[in-house]
This record gives sequence, C-alpha cells and structure tokens, in this order.
Amino acid sequence: MDVKACIFDLDGVIVDTAVYHYRAWKRLANELGFDFTEEQNEQLKGVSRMASLKLILGWGNMGQLSDEEMNKLADKKNDWYVDMITHMTPAEILPGAKEFVSACRQAGIKTAIGSASKNTPVILQKLELTPLFDVIVDGNSVSAPKPAPEVFVKGAAMLGVPPANCIVFEDAVAGIEAARNGGMKAVGIGQPEVLTKAAKVISGLDQISVDQLQHI
Ligand code: BG6
Ligand code: MG
Repeated sequence: MDVKACIFDLDGVIVDTAVYHYRAWKRLANELGFDFTEEQNEQLKGVSRMASLKLILGWGNMGQLSDEEMNKLADKKNDWYVDMITHMTPAEILPGAKEFVSACRQAGIKTAIGSASKNTPVILQKLELTPLFDVIVDGNSVSAPKPAPEVFVKGAAMLGVPPANCIVFEDAVAGIEAARNGGMKAVGIGQPEVLTKAAKVISGLDQISVDQLQHI
C-alpha cells in the first residue's frame, strides 16, 4: 500500500483521556443516584457526548428526559471534564505518539486528527501537539458520529489524499468501522480480540515504525 496520509483518533491513541471521561460521567451518574461499571464504560469509547449520555441514562433506567434536561446534564459533565483536561501536560502524551507522528511527517506522510471530541483543540494545545498535524477534524466540524466515516473522509479530503492512500489509527470499534466505511485501512490500538476488523492491532504507537506502514 502506498501510504500518503495517517489520520489519528485522539482519545486513546494520542492521549489517555478515557479516565477523565469516566470520572466525569461516573460523578454525573452518582449524582443521579446510580452507578455504572468500568466494563460499561468501555462501550463509551469513540462515542459522541450525547450518545454517551443516552447510553448512561439507559443503564440507570432514567426514562425519557427532555432535550433541555439532556443538554444540561451533558454540559455539567463537560464542565467537570474540561476542569480535568485543562490540567493536562505533555507528560500525558501516550508512549511513542509524538515520535511516530513526527516520523511520518519527516517521511513526507501527511498527518491529521480525526476525533469525535469537541474538546480536541484544548487537548492538543495542552499537549503542545497542535503544530504536528496538517489538518484537524473534530466533533465541532462533523455531524455524523463514528461509525459514519465523515470525520475521516473529511480529513482525507482536506489533506488532498484519496482514502485508499490513508491509514487510520483508532482504539474504538466504532472508529475502525468508520475508517473501513470510508474506504481506509485501520490500525487498531488495543487488543486484537476486541478490534477484530482492524488490518493490524498494536498496543500503542511505540510499537510501529514508518517503514512498516507500506506492509499494512
Ligand atoms: C471520543 C471519546 O474521542 O470523544 C468519547 O472516545 C467522547 O469517550 C467523545 O464521548 C466526545 O468527546 P467530547 O470531548 O466532545 O465530550
Ligand atoms: Mg478513541
């Protein structure tokens, strides 16, 4: 495969924000009088803020809430989440992530972020990684959530690279499906038993080199 661009999911690939999402959602659920497990939390990976809230309210048997009530709850969770991520530093970048993205650029491969998160700009700024990406597509600029391919297709189009020449790096099942739905190969970050549809699965970006990309 002639790789011309790498598109990276943010949460779980470049930085482990899942723990902050979990703490904030758990606090909200606890305030509403119920709890959910870490296993259930796995199902929230790659899922948009409102879709996550709907899943959590379902787990708590909260019944139907109005749009206004739902927005209030989502805003409350996000305020707590933002409080936590504003304290992040470059020390929280996952092992190998910065080095691999830099190596891609040095090899002439374009780089993009393709994330569901509306907090992408602040996270990249706190990690001091914004300049490493040619294009940033996030939850503020797409309407169809993963597994819809919009976020990655838009990134490829902005980079001017055909989907067949793009590789997506993703930790979520929905994200791998989104890449495939957009005609791109996906490298899974996590466990092969979970990310069964990925072309290759690695434990992190410290486990891959630019030379290996052509063989995916
Ligand atoms: C994804 C995370 O990257 O972004 C999800 O994996 C999260 O857990 C989603 O819900 C939306 O994030 P945010 O920051 O817009 O609430
Ligand atoms: Mg992710």
